[in-house]
Amino acid sequence: MGVTGKVQERVDALRELLHQHAHRYYVLDEPSIPDAEYDKLFRELQQLEEQHPELLTPDSPTRRVGGGVLDGFAKVRHKVPMLSIRTETDTEPTGAQNFDARVRKELGLAESDPPVEYVAELKFDGLAINLRYENGVLVQAATRGDGEIGEEVTQNIRAIGQIPLKLPADVPPVLEVRGEVYMRRDQFEALNERQREKIAKGAKGEKTFVNPRNAAAGAVRQLDPAIARQRPLSFFAYGWGEVTPLEQGGPAFTTHYETLLTLKSWGFPVSARTQTAYGAPDLIAFYAGVGAARDQLPFDIDGVVYKVNSLPLQKQMGFVSREPRWAVAHKYPAQEQLTTVEAIDVQVGRTGKLTPVAKLAPVFVGGVTVTNATLHNEDEARRKDVRVGDTVIVRRAGDVIPEVVAVVPDKRARDAAQFTMPRKCPVCGSDAVREEGEADYRCAGGLFCAAQRTGAILHFAQRRAMDIEGLGDKLVEQMVEGNVIKVLPDLYRLGLVALSSLDRMAEKSAQNVLAALEKSKATTLARFLYGLGIRHVGEATAKEFARHFGKLDAIMDAGVEQLLEVPDVGPIVAESIHTFFQQAHNREVVEQLRACGVTWEESEPAAQAPKPLAGKTIVLTGTLPTLSRDEAKDLLEAAGAKVAGSVSKKTDYVVAGAEAGSKLEKARELGVTVLDEEGLKELLHGHP
Ligand code: IVH
Repeated sequence: MGVTGKVQERVDALRELLHQHAHRYYVLDEPSIPDAEYDKLFRELQQLEEQHPELLTPDSPTRRVGGGVLDGFAKVRHKVPMLSIRTETDTEPTGAQNFDARVRKELGLAESDPPVEYVAELKFDGLAINLRYENGVLVQAATRGDGEIGEEVTQNIRAIGQIPLKLPADVPPVLEVRGEVYMRRDQFEALNERQREKIAKGAKGEKTFVNPRNAAAGAVRQLDPAIARQRPLSFFAYGWGEVTPLEQGGPAFTTHYETLLTLKSWGFPVSARTQTAYGAPDLIAFYAGVGAARDQLPFDIDGVVYKVNSLPLQKQMGFVSREPRWAVAHKYPAQEQLTTVEAIDVQVGRTGKLTPVAKLAPVFVGGVTVTNATLHNEDEARRKDVRVGDTVIVRRAGDVIPEVVAVVPDKRARDAAQFTMPRKCPVCGSDAVREEGEADYRCAGGLFCAAQRTGAILHFAQRRAMDIEGLGDKLVEQMVEGNVIKVLPDLYRLGLVALSSLDRMAEKSAQNVLAALEKSKATTLARFLYGLGIRHVGEATAKEFARHFGKLDAIMDAGVEQLLEVPDVGPIVAESIHTFFQQAHNREVVEQLRACGVTWEESEPAAQAPKPLAGKTIVLTGTLPTLSRDEAKDLLEAAGAKVAGSVSKKTDYVVAGAEAGSKLEKARELGVTVLDEEGLKELLHGHP
């Protein structure tokens, strides 16, 4: 076979592969390879076609912009085609320099000519939508489809709160706004959590989503609008399609930036990070700045986009095969990568919960090297059907824990065995049981199980509980393995000799641990209660109990009815506390701890202290000048406020200190009142 024959074969193979993947990606919303892998194949084909133009065919994947159209939606022919952007995968400054050089060449500029003016934007990772307004009213929303013909998804798009349904009176009679529909990362995580719960409860036909983009695409193309509405979506505008021309009374836009500002003034969300940039140095700085902030953004981006700002210059430059010459997408390193599963371990937690964890061949993804990924529980592991030896897609975006999102089915070995949860605890050999209606298997060994004992001690010692400094994982594991500690109170019976006999424990560090143990004895009722590790009793609940009862004995002797009187306490928590203190061995542990000298100040039961912030939800972010995060939280909770971890429409105030990041940004986006420490203090005293 001649050289061209070989090339032809490769070109055919690439086209077939790309067609298959594009179908899975665009039509089925079930990609089986990461984008970066797809891009690589796509570029290989593009290059071969450039070198051998005689092999080009009109149906090559490089000639098309997207995938096919689902049958369930009406088809829409775009008045102005929805184009694609050329991607630059060189993640060095040269990526931006090359684009600038191409533009300058295209425009025939000499070195002495001034820099070109660009607009630099984020490349949102969602799906492109065309919004058509006639006389200021949203009449149609369509997906990009293949760029020429998309799908009508008006119903589902109308449900997106950020998309205006009606525009101010002065807009042009015909206006098509283009932008990206996406799902915020926190909402994606919450959605998947809800999906996992549904699956655990046996719901049929439910699945979790691979990433926010697929969740967004699935929601937009959901045939049942009721389901679509349960999938929170957002929108950013970045362009436009058909607009009434100037001669017929349309707007006289001359730059891209000015157009975006106008769209913003008409009520469309435009990212606050969109900015003008002069020449390559500005583009490089933008790329670096956004790259550094990428993890803190509330949504996924896969790169930035540079566009020539002048509309006449854009027109002059035109297109090559459906990609404008005046724009480029400059990508960041991928947040999804391929790797292989070397083993599936089962870890045992403090409450005996068994968690399957995939041990991965180390892979650099989303800025860190990942070697572990949780598979959550049996159902999740089964649903994803991860097997030892499998090639998997691993995703890490933002500060979210890395996850195996899918298996690449074609790469599975024939003899790969399905994963099953062990029926015995891998640490202590006790039975592992899964109760009716629960997603998790639990080791029945209780504190007989070394893993549970280690977990219980680490929980007791943690900063927010007894705050025993220097009592880390390795040390506690050794103590438990060596049987130095069998029950919690043994901690306070440790002597210098026993401690210094442990590995890597010099006398000095042993003395430090003893001092930390001594110091921890003077504590608060809330910390002590939380430290006991009672199921369903988190920090906030422990504080409520301490405040309500004032004394430990009162809690230990309370019946379920009395426990239910505590604010925000429901039957599950009340039942759990009650059962805990009904067990003689738990009461014994408490008595022994007291005998060892653990003390706290008891108080009178809470006569309902005034709660000026009852019912308010507050988010803390950044570093405050004088109050620590914990102090601020305590003060707020004592005043009746709920302190939440993320900003939403339900947030009443955000208290922001120095270096506040995405939460502050989000507060501004949602129009939530932002306070500094002074403002917080005023609020606590009852004047907002
Ligand atoms: S402009 C003529 N700007 O990237 C250029 N696209 O392949 C038309 N995208 O499907 C697109 N962020 O969904 C543009 N700031 C941005 C974008 C953006 C994300 C997506 C868009 C499009 C794809 C381009």
